[in-house]
Amino acid sequence: SNPTSSRRAPFIVIEGLDRSGKTTQTSKLAQRLEGSGVDTKLVKFPDRTTPIGKMIDSYLRSASDLDDHAVHLLFSANRWELAPTIERLLTAGTTVICDRYAFSGIAFSASKVDAEGAPLLPFEWCRSPDVGLPAPDLVLFFDITPEKAKERGGYGEERYEKEEMQLRVRKAFHRIAEEMGEDEKVGRGATRWVTVDAGRGMDEVERDVWTLVEPLVRGGVTGPVAKLWT
Ligand code: TMP
Repeated sequence: SNPTSSRRAPFIVIEGLDRSGKTTQTSKLAQRLEGSGVDTKLVKFPDRTTPIGKMIDSYLRSASDLDDHAVHLLFSANRWELAPTIERLLTAGTTVICDRYAFSGIAFSASKVDAEGAPLLPFEWCRSPDVGLPAPDLVLFFDITPEKAKERGGYGEERYEKEEMQLRVRKAFHRIAEEMGEDEKVGRGATRWVTVDAGRGMDEVERDVWTLVEPLVRGGVTGPVAKLWT
């Protein structure tokens, strides 16, 4: 009856390739919001602190091996275990800024190939366990060319941080980006997807991010948190 009572805080996800400056920008954004008096929670996936997250961490550091299907489902389970917390925070008026989400889940797993270069996990199979998760209101996809990423000092030591893998991941992200912009059925739903050119200077990127995020945070969002891909 009171329309303002259903207003809630926005759920904002930052996605992107390795070396895109995603993590730096995510924490800058969270700090700036807090500095502006906005109640903010920074979330990161994988959340390596939970029991599931510890299994993922061990896998990423190659301290353990897991079947590709199994580790994909662990990444998804890691999001599901935090989903109720995210919903609660949004409803309580806390803006949630999230470093990686289900889009990374699909992009990385769908980019794994066998010795012949054939995909190990079909794209739609990769999407299914994340269907129904809290849907972000805004996704900022940090895109960067492999050349620029290289200039920034190359990739780290973890699994997936190899050039060929990163090229496939970028393609997968572009497929998701297209879907999120164009295909209403499996794509966007309540989510707005914006691709950010992350190959530019840090200040320029920061300015763009703020321009996209600030009005959403100031205005809030009406209605309940939507469910991803439903
Ligand atoms: P991080 O470097 O942001 O901590 O992410 C660790 C790696 O895990 C990174 O290469 C991306 C990958 N990843 C997946 O494969 N699936 C997922 O669902 C997520 C969130 C990350």
